[in-house]
Amino acid sequence: MSLPVILVTGGAGYVGSHTVLELLNNNYTVVVVDNLVNAHKDKGADLPEALRRVERMTGRTVYFHSVDIQNKEELTRIFNHYKIDCVMHFAALKAVGESCQIPLTYYQNNITGSSVLLEVMKNHGVYKLVYSSSATVYGIPQYLPLDEKHPTGQGCTNPYGKSKYFVEEIMKDLCSSDPLWAIISLRYFNPVGAHESGEIGEDPLGIPNNLMPFIAQVASGKLPRLQIFGSDYNTHDGTGVRDYIHISDLSAGHVSSLKCILKPDYTGFMAFNLGTGKGYSVLDVLKSFEKACGKKLPYDLVPRRPGDIDSSYADATLSKKTFNWTATKGIDDMCQDTWLWQQKNPNGFKSQ
Ligand SMILES: NC(=O)c1ccc[n+]([C@@H]2O[C@H](COP(=O)([O-])OP(=O)(O)OC[C@H]3O[C@@H](n4cnc5c(N)ncnc54)[C@H](O)[C@@H]3O)[C@@H](O)[C@H]2O)c1
Repeated sequence: MSLPVILVTGGAGYVGSHTVLELLNNNYTVVVVDNLVNAHKDKGADLPEALRRVERMTGRTVYFHSVDIQNKEELTRIFNHYKIDCVMHFAALKAVGESCQIPLTYYQNNITGSSVLLEVMKNHGVYKLVYSSSATVYGIPQYLPLDEKHPTGQGCTNPYGKSKYFVEEIMKDLCSSDPLWAIISLRYFNPVGAHESGEIGEDPLGIPNNLMPFIAQVASGKLPRLQIFGSDYNTHDGTGVRDYIHISDLSAGHVSSLKCILKPDYTGFMAFNLGTGKGYSVLDVLKSFEKACGKKLPYDLVPRRPGDIDSSYADATLSKKTFNWTATKGIDDMCQDTWLWQQKNPNGFKSQ
C-alpha cells in the first residue's frame, strides 16, 4: 500500500525543506507549493536549490510547483492533479520587524493565504492539516515553562505574531463548524541549526534577524561583531533566555504529529509546543558557538529592544504524551551543525 501524499506549502524554505527531507526519508510522497518569495532557485533550474539538494540526499522525487497560496485557481489545479491526504502549511512571511512596516502585506499573505488554502482543501474534501505556528502566540509569558493552556493572543506585539494567532483562531472556528476537520498547530520555539550533512540550512536574505545565523556570519567574518540586545534581564547572566530547538528535531516532530493526525479517527483542533524545555541565554549560545568554530567572537552589549522578554521556554510534555516526540539534540549540536552549514555554504544556496 502506498503511503499518503502530503502537500507542503512553503516547502522550499528553511523549516519546510528540512521537513520535506524527513517526509521523504519516511517514504511519504511530497508535493511542494512555494512562490519563492524567500527561497532561492537558480535560473533555468527545475527545483529551488534546497529541494534539489533534498532530492540528491534522498534519491526521491519532490513534486514542486511555483504557486502562491493566495491564488485560488492555481491551488485548485494542484488539488485536482494530486490526491492529497494531508497538508503541512509552512508558507508565510516571518520577519517580525518587516511585519511592523508592511502589516497589510503580512496579513494578506499569512491570513488570506491560509484561508484560501483551507477553502480549496474543503472544496476537495481534504480535512487534515499540520500548521506552523509559533510560541509568539503566547505573547508575554504569564508563567514558565509555557504550556499549551497558557493564554494566547494577549500581548502579541507585532503583525507577524498576530497573523499566527489569528490563523489559529480561524482554524479553531473551522474545526468547531465541522467535525471532519483535523488540525494540529505546532507552536515552534526557536528553530536553529542545519541538517547534520551541512547540505541544507537557514539562508536568510540580507542581514539576519535571528541570533544563530547572525553569530554564524560573525564567525565566518561576513559581519564584524555580534550585538547583544539587553544585558540586564532577570536571567542567570543578564542576557535573554530562549528555548532553541534543532531543526532536525523540529522536522521529526512534524512527522510524528503527521502519523497522529493521519489516524482515521483523529479530529478537531489541537496545539502542541515543539521545544526542548531548556532555556539558553545569548551568552550561553555564543560560548557554545565559540567552541564549535574554535575561536573567540567579538560582541557588544547594547540596550534592550522594545518588546523583548527575559525568558521563554516550553513545556513539551503534551507532544511527548500525544505523539511520542521529544527533542534529542542540545545546544552544542545546534551550533556545530550551523557552523558546518555556514562553512560549506558561505553564500547560502546561491552559487556565487
Ligand atoms: N524559523 C522560525 O524561527 C519560525 C519560528 C516559528 C514559526 N515559524 C513558521 O514556520 C514557517 C516556516 O518558516 P521558515 O523559517 O521556514 O521560513 P522561510 O521563509 O524559510 O519559509 C517559508 C517559505 O514559504 C514561502 N512562501 C511565503 N509566502 C508564500 C505564499 N503566499 N505562497 C507560497 N509560498 C510562500 C517562501 O518562499 C518560503 O520558501 C512559517 O510559517 C513561520 O511563520 C518559523
